[in-house]
Amino acid sequence: MTEHVGPVDKAVNKEMVALLQGAWRSRAIHVATELGLPDLLAEGERTVDELAAATDTHAPTLGRLLRALTTFGVFRRLPDGRTYAQSPLSAVLVSTPGNAESTDARFMAAGWHWAAWGELLHTVRTGTSSFEVANDGVSFWELTKTDPDAKQRFNAAMSAVSLEESADIARAYDFSSARHVVDVAGGLGSLLAAILTAHPAVRGTLLERPEIVPLARELLGKADVEGRYETVAGDFFEEVPAGADVYTIKRALHDWDDATIVRILRRIREAMRPDSVLLVIEGVVDEDSDQEALFRGLLLTVLVGGQDRPESDYRALAEEAGFTIRRGIPVGDGGLRIIEAVPMA
Ligand SMILES: C[S@@+](CC[C@H](N)C(=O)[O-])C[C@H]1O[C@@H](n2cnc3c(N)ncnc32)[C@H](O)[C@@H]1O
Repeated sequence: MTEHVGPVDKAVNKEMVALLQGAWRSRAIHVATELGLPDLLAEGERTVDELAAATDTHAPTLGRLLRALTTFGVFRRLPDGRTYAQSPLSAVLVSTPGNAESTDARFMAAGWHWAAWGELLHTVRTGTSSFEVANDGVSFWELTKTDPDAKQRFNAAMSAVSLEESADIARAYDFSSARHVVDVAGGLGSLLAAILTAHPAVRGTLLERPEIVPLARELLGKADVEGRYETVAGDFFEEVPAGADVYTIKRALHDWDDATIVRILRRIREAMRPDSVLLVIEGVVDEDSDQEALFRGLLLTVLVGGQDRPESDYRALAEEAGFTIRRGIPVGDGGLRIIEAVPMA
């Protein structure tokens, strides 16, 4: 039976059409970012022809892309109809170093990222990553190891997020009584740099995949922590540096399934002294989390088969790996948590 469609329903239909076209809007923003349009317009207004010449694009189509983008506030069209200017929204995408939104836009714009979302149905059917299905059998970890462009995009996105939150973590937890901190899967080193900067008596070790270590050394080399850190090129499935007072692992467990998380935590536990402390630092989600957190959780499954979890899940997994949970400490107001755990007696 067909329901009568009144004026209210038409509004709902229109809303659905806008949602269905959401992917196209995102793609248009990705392309504008790839072409460097926010950077070009940061230098001043430009006509479509000038922008097309600067970006080696088809001027009439670039004009239509820009016109479409202005309908939701990305760029501004001037009254002459041919000239475009920056808007508050497009200004967010200017590629200044450490700008989380612009590095995120470049990460999302990559063909392999977009292709993986295109296979979301596979992820929902199987609960596993769609990345390999979408990218000729190559996994996310393999691609970000072997492809320089993919490596750069991923590392820049990871580092921008990490820089923002690392100082908050170094403030939220009292590291002052530790002499030696090991950051497991420490990424580009921003957490270790923040801890060592805030606590001049602490020394640190960063464990990372060999291809990431030189980048971490670069960041740590620029921090004022000379002589107080070492980097270890290794594999947290194999061995974790032993005997430190505090072990941290930030936003790295969420990349894996439950059984693998328990394996990683057991490796860390084997490296710990009976009185060492482990800090699991993760963004936690539950069913009431906001839209951004829920979609980022899905992204983890799409890319690597991981997921963000409620704090209770991390506690349960750490207990399974032989830890006793001491407490959970909130960091900032974005759902980031430090879960403090110690080896079970
Ligand atoms: C999402 S990133 C988080 C990095 C960092 N902790 C941060 O918060 O910015 C996950 C990290 O795990 C590292 N990783 C993945 N597999 C690893 C392994 N087998 N051994 C050590 N590190 C690994 C990756 O290189 C990546 O830097």
